[in-house]
Amino acid sequence: MENLEIKSIFFKDDMLYLIDQRKLPLKEEYFACNNYKSVYKAIKDMIVRGAPAIGIAAAYGMVLAAKEFLYENKGNFLSNLINAGNYLRKSRPTAVNLSWAIDNLLNIAAKHKDKTPEEIYYLLYDKAREMEREDLLTNKKMAEFQDEIIPQKATILTHCNTGALATVGWGTALGVIRTAFYSGKDIFVYADETRPRLQGARLTAWELMKENIPSKLIADSVAATLIRDGKIDLILVGADRIASNGDTANKIGTFMLSVVAKTYNVPFYVVAPSSTFDLSIKSGEDIIIEERSPDEVLKIGNTQIAPKDFPVYNPAFDVTPHENITAIICEKAVIRKPFSENIAKLSEEK
Ligand code: MRU
Repeated sequence: MENLEIKSIFFKDDMLYLIDQRKLPLKEEYFACNNYKSVYKAIKDMIVRGAPAIGIAAAYGMVLAAKEFLYENKGNFLSNLINAGNYLRKSRPTAVNLSWAIDNLLNIAAKHKDKTPEEIYYLLYDKAREMEREDLLTNKKMAEFQDEIIPQKATILTHCNTGALATVGWGTALGVIRTAFYSGKDIFVYADETRPRLQGARLTAWELMKENIPSKLIADSVAATLIRDGKIDLILVGADRIASNGDTANKIGTFMLSVVAKTYNVPFYVVAPSSTFDLSIKSGEDIIIEERSPDEVLKIGNTQIAPKDFPVYNPAFDVTPHENITAIICEKAVIRKPFSENIAKLSEEK
């Protein structure tokens, strides 16, 4: 069976097009960005979301910034580019792929600072294109490791959306599930709805349905019962930032899942590309967790479900301690414990 291609991001004629993830699954519309400030808005408002997709969107945001400053003198061109990068960086704090992408492009600009703004612009454009292509290839590589971790028949639990929508294509955790399914394995998926933004209900369910992958949607609080009752063979989640010791920030609710998984000895895997590793930090304690608007909890869509203005605590992510993780799958390997040692070794490899 062939998979249906979902195009989350594309760049054409100096415009960045992003499938508007706020509107899925009801409407399949694209949001067009013609400058870096609209890319900032798209990331902040979660028109585009998912760590790898945010990174590639930001890379094209930098290309749009370079285009905007093209006719400035060289000094202004370079300093405006750095400022645009700093502006984009502030759109969302947790996913490290954002800074990773911006730094990649700023390093190119710095390395070629003797060239003209126009030459630098083309180099940045080529780099963003390469990063876009690489993201898809990386996901396909990670997905091949399904052989090592998924049995011939498996019921898999997943959280949030880690599919084609969260990346340039294929996905991270959901990419592993896709490849297992297309390789002929007997796969069944439980998708957590993922309150409050409902990425599981709106986006993962939509992706699973498009490809006829056998699955059911569950309220987040059902997961513990399924795990305790022996109904889940393994859990696969994505990541927004992985510290040097393997502590992993991911969508709120991931930590809770990991605790239940550990209690009942269910393997708990994180799937993420190298661009999600932040080796500048030792542990999860150093990860900044984004807090989002109270309205995300007080309302569902436009419908108020709690007393207006009731106080809310709404962290968008949590940190799963490395002890609760069975292995981390990246494009280079299935990384097992001890994580600090094995992550360091792998990062030395080209
Ligand atoms: O707030 P979001 O929807 O951007 O959060 C997304 C997640 O937490 C994903 O699990 C993570 O980015 C990995 S996506 C391949």
